[in-house]
Amino acid sequence: MTELAEGVNCQWRIAARPVGNVKREDFEYRETEIPEPGEGEFLLRTLYLGLAPVMRMYMLGEAVAQARPLEIGDIIHGRGVAEVVASKHPDYQVGDVVQGQLGWQTYKISRGTPGERFFKMPVNDMPLGHAGGTLGMTGLSAWGGWMQCADARPGDRVLVSGAAGGVGTLVVQMARIQGCHVTAMAGGPEKCRFLEELGCDRTIDYKSEDLAGRLPELFPDGIDVYFDNVGGDTLSACLDNLAMGARIVLCGSISEYLLDEPYGLMNYTRLRSVNGTMRGFFVYNFWDRFDECVEQLAGWIRAGQLRPVEQVIEGFHRMPEALARLYDGVNVGVQICQVRADLLHGETK
Ligand SMILES: NC(=O)c1ccc[n+]([C@@H]2O[C@H](COP(=O)([O-])OP(=O)(O)OC[C@H]3O[C@@H](n4cnc5c(N)ncnc54)[C@H](OP(=O)(O)O)[C@@H]3O)[C@@H](O)[C@H]2O)c1
Repeated sequence: MTELAEGVNCQWRIAARPVGNVKREDFEYRETEIPEPGEGEFLLRTLYLGLAPVMRMYMLGEAVAQARPLEIGDIIHGRGVAEVVASKHPDYQVGDVVQGQLGWQTYKISRGTPGERFFKMPVNDMPLGHAGGTLGMTGLSAWGGWMQCADARPGDRVLVSGAAGGVGTLVVQMARIQGCHVTAMAGGPEKCRFLEELGCDRTIDYKSEDLAGRLPELFPDGIDVYFDNVGGDTLSACLDNLAMGARIVLCGSISEYLLDEPYGLMNYTRLRSVNGTMRGFFVYNFWDRFDECVEQLAGWIRAGQLRPVEQVIEGFHRMPEALARLYDGVNVGVQICQVRADLLHGETK
């Protein structure tokens, strides 16, 4: 299957619980009838789907926030951008473009209930595909974690791990906008070069450098804010190099997701000696601030201060491959699948 089949609902479902990274045989491709909307319902046609590391947890059947734990044979959870193509719902008109929980499928019926809300974009001058990434969940994650949890001040010495990923590329740019001095960590010289182009003051290639040795050299007076996307021994090394009053934002722990047992942090008590804080957050807890987030990010994009970094894979048939890329660390910025070939990425509706 390479061309998108027309006249049917194409879906990716769970065939097997992944062991290690996801593989093609963990996914089942299925075609079903396109559903007809009943009274109070509307039909969505998927345009873009975002990809995120959490999706492997969905495939493992783990309970993640409000998302229903998935069984073998279920459609995989996934958020994206869609247009309303038929409607018997007073609040959704044919032609509306919304973003929300679509699942890995090309059509979805919704009643627009509170648990299944679809958001109309609060800005209408931005390319449509951004709603699947920079101005979607990835943007809200980065904005919620950085703007609401880091308590950053101009001149702060900031370290961001997973810096070349979807969340990381936004966090490093917001930190620069706020006048922080930003060190970005990523794997490999190409990603590090890219991050310097993006405005980072300096980079650490964690795949070739000894982090525990580098941090005291780069931060002789300690780290003011560490934005943690990776967890594990990176978090542990940062805890050993904190400045007075340091803040750690716990966003993710991607280095631990493929492990059988979590890492088991031993040195968190280092926070005491520097009056430090470690604060976690969950993106869904910022739902009610979605419009504010999108307006602020869009404002920076318009002003040329923030560059959306999005890698677009074309074709719904490539969704399994696109997810595997996240764990292989191949992606730069947020990974998005453009589901329909008849769209130009960047098209504004
Ligand atoms: N708290 C929340 O509500 C929330 C919301 C969204 C995302 N998250 C979490 O935030 C993190 C970043 O998400 P994202 O969407 O930006 O993901 P992403 O685009 O896939 O980026 C993650 C980056 O992590 C790096 N990475 C992968 N494996 C690694 C390893 N073993 N050690 C160190 N780095 C590794 C990769 O780059 P390199 O090549 O540089 O290794 C990759 O580009 C994830 O842990 C995700 O689960 C949390």
